[in-house]
Amino acid sequence: MRNRTKLLLLAAFALAGAACLLFRGPDGTMAAKAPELTDSGALPVQVLFPVSAKPNPGAVGMKPVVFTHKLHESKVQNCETCHHTGDPVPCTTCHTVEGCAEGNFVTLERAMHATNIRQVKNGRTPESCVSCHTKLYSQRKECAGCHSIVKPNHNAQWCAVCHQKVPNMTQEQFAKGVAGKLDPMEGMRLAEATIAARKEVKYADPTKMNYRMVIDSLVDKYEPNYFNHARHIVSVERKIKGNLLAKAFHNSPRVFCKTCHHHTPALATPPKCVSCHNSRIDKKYPGRPPLKAAYHLQCMGCHDGMQVKRPRKTDCTGCHKLRVAQKGD
Ligand code: HEC
Ligand code: HEC
Ligand code: HEC
Ligand code: HEC
Ligand code: HEC
Ligand code: HEC
Ligand code: HEC
Ligand code: HEC
Ligand code: HEC
Repeated sequence: MRNRTKLLLLAAFALAGAACLLFRGPDGTMAAKAPELTDSGALPVQVLFPVSAKPNPGAVGMKPVVFTHKLHESKVQNCETCHHTGDPVPCTTCHTVEGCAEGNFVTLERAMHATNIRQVKNGRTPESCVSCHTKLYSQRKECAGCHSIVKPNHNAQWCAVCHQKVPNMTQEQFAKGVAGKLDPMEGMRLAEATIAARKEVKYADPTKMNYRMVIDSLVDKYEPNYFNHARHIVSVERKIKGNLLAKAFHNSPRVFCKTCHHHTPALATPPKCVSCHNSRIDKKYPGRPPLKAAYHLQCMGCHDGMQVKRPRKTDCTGCHKLRVAQKGD
């Protein structure tokens, strides 16, 4: 197995040489040191550079990306989900910053981020990094509850989860990387150093918050709603513990607060829903549901996505008891 895959890697390098960029060592031969391979023939971790056909890497805007091949191949069943042409060669063989004929001028940026990918008939539809991650959190029930009521912000903080600063990388190493000529072992060491420099996020502790909360902005027919605030946060958090994708991207202490307390900065004391949602639909803000619908849509949206068995949507008294008619009512 090992020998076969090493051969595969050699073949991969040779193939790369024949395509739009040369993946050769500085002296025109293969890189000097044999890299430490996993069974797939790929390095366990590596730095992906914005490989460009142009000699001047100054035009490149983003930091490079560390990719954990070993983790990914253990979590993704089929190699060809990513290596969609069937050849396990670097993506940059065919997808460069500018695009080239081998990749039908699909740029590196599209190949890594596109979510509107053309479906391939009679063959394998490629996946980008972002398209697969999006599918994952939309389909798995432990993720899909929050993610059906959250619209993630694709801001600079999001980019930086993948495009990270590589500690101690020299200009020369970067230039070689961009030219597709960095020694793979050197690339692996840079990747290891980047991973070692990552900081773990400590989430806000929900048990320090109001455990049970009374929602009574709208009491008319029903008793107020007793909402198990802390238990909700603990319970959804527990369900996704250990998922490394979630861990990497949920990278701020109050990230989970944003799920329900949306359109506000992540504060320890977010405003009540009623401060933005009126009891009637507001003509100025047609996109905002009125208060009762806002609560219902948010509660049920997540319960549906997570396939919560109790309370069911139709089980009104699972969330609020009918108000017993009182004198003067
Ligand atoms: C899931 C991981 C991931 C996220 C998140 C991500 N990228 Fe990328 N991006 C990559 C990979 C992998 C490459 C190819 C390797 C490289 O260029 O270093 C890439 C390449 C690029 C390129 C082409 C290369 C270059 O430097 O010109 C651009 C532009 C880019 N990304 C911009 C962004 C921006 C802007 C964001 C945030 C809005 C972002 N990316 C978020 C993974 C990601
Ligand atoms: C989640 C996507 C993904 C999966 C799944 C995956 N790979 Fe990869 N693979 C990559 C990326 C990305 C690279 C780095 C490409 C680059 O350097 O531009 C790579 C690189 C490689 C390389 C090194 C190519 C070279 O010449 O440097 C080999 C060999 C390889 N993969 C084999 C495999 C095999 C075998 C499997 C299945 C057991 C597999 N891969 C599964 C994404 C994936
Ligand atoms: C041997 C060349 C080759 C390699 C290697 C290759 N691709 Fe592609 N890729 C193509 C071609 C050609 C297309 C365009 C297909 C089309 O036009 O139908 C494409 C299309 C794509 C698309 C679809 C973009 C769109 O606009 O719909 C994505 C995403 C993609 N590739 C990702 C990758 C990733 C990730 C890797 C590395 C793991 C990779 N490709 C490796 C040749 C390649
Ligand atoms: C086919 C699906 C798929 C593709 C394509 C894919 N990923 Fe992932 N990614 C996963 C899965 C699955 C996990 C791990 C989830 C878990 O822990 O169960 C993951 C985890 C991660 C993580 C967090 C763990 C870590 O590595 O530190 C990062 C960052 C990441 N991926 C980046 C990328 C980048 C960059 C690319 C593109 C080069 C990519 N992914 C392509 C499925 C994918
Ligand atoms: C408690 C609610 C909650 C759960 C459960 C949850 N997420 Fe998230 N996730 C969020 C929020 C909120 C954001 C957006 C943060 C932002 O926009 O700043 C987010 C953002 C992300 C992102 C980055 C955005 C993007 O489009 O790439 C990824 C990836 C992600 N989550 C993966 C997962 C995965 C995988 C799971 C399940 C294993 C999961 N999440 C479960 C709340 C949750
Ligand atoms: C599952 C959804 C959900 C999550 C996750 C969540 N909250 Fe809440 N929170 C609510 C609801 C619903 C209310 C009641 C709002 C109302 O009365 O209008 C509330 C109320 C509050 C209140 C009281 C507000 C007031 O003025 O009475 C505070 C403080 C609060 N949340 C803080 C947080 C923090 C901090 C986090 C993150 C650790 C968080 N919440 C996560 C749903 C959530
Ligand atoms: C700071 C103002 C603000 C607060 C506080 C707020 N919302 Fe919203 N909400 C909005 C806006 C703005 C929209 C419309 C979003 C759009 O047009 O895409 C919205 C839309 C919604 C929607 C429709 C689906 C969606 O996400 O677009 C639901 C459901 C909702 N809010 C529930 C709630 C609940 C429940 C609370 C309290 C926990 C709450 N909102 C607190 C501003 C707020
Ligand atoms: C982010 C996802 C999410 C949101 C939003 C959410 N729930 Fe839940 N809810 C759950 C999950 C998951 C369970 C199952 C709890 C468990 O397994 O521990 C649950 C269980 C419950 C239960 C039964 C257990 C208990 O705590 O008494 C009630 C009642 C409930 N939710 C009410 C609400 C109300 C009211 C709202 C809206 C204000 C709401 N939920 C919003 C995820 C959510
Ligand atoms: C997952 C929990 C949940 C379920 C199930 C649920 N609701 Fe609610 N409902 C709420 C919350 C939270 C509020 C806001 C509480 C408040 O402000 O008094 C609310 C408010 C209301 C209100 C406005 C308050 C009032 O007293 O007039 C009405 C009416 C209502 N719900 C009817 C229903 C009916 C009818 C059903 C069954 C089809 C139902 N709800 C099922 C959570 C739920």
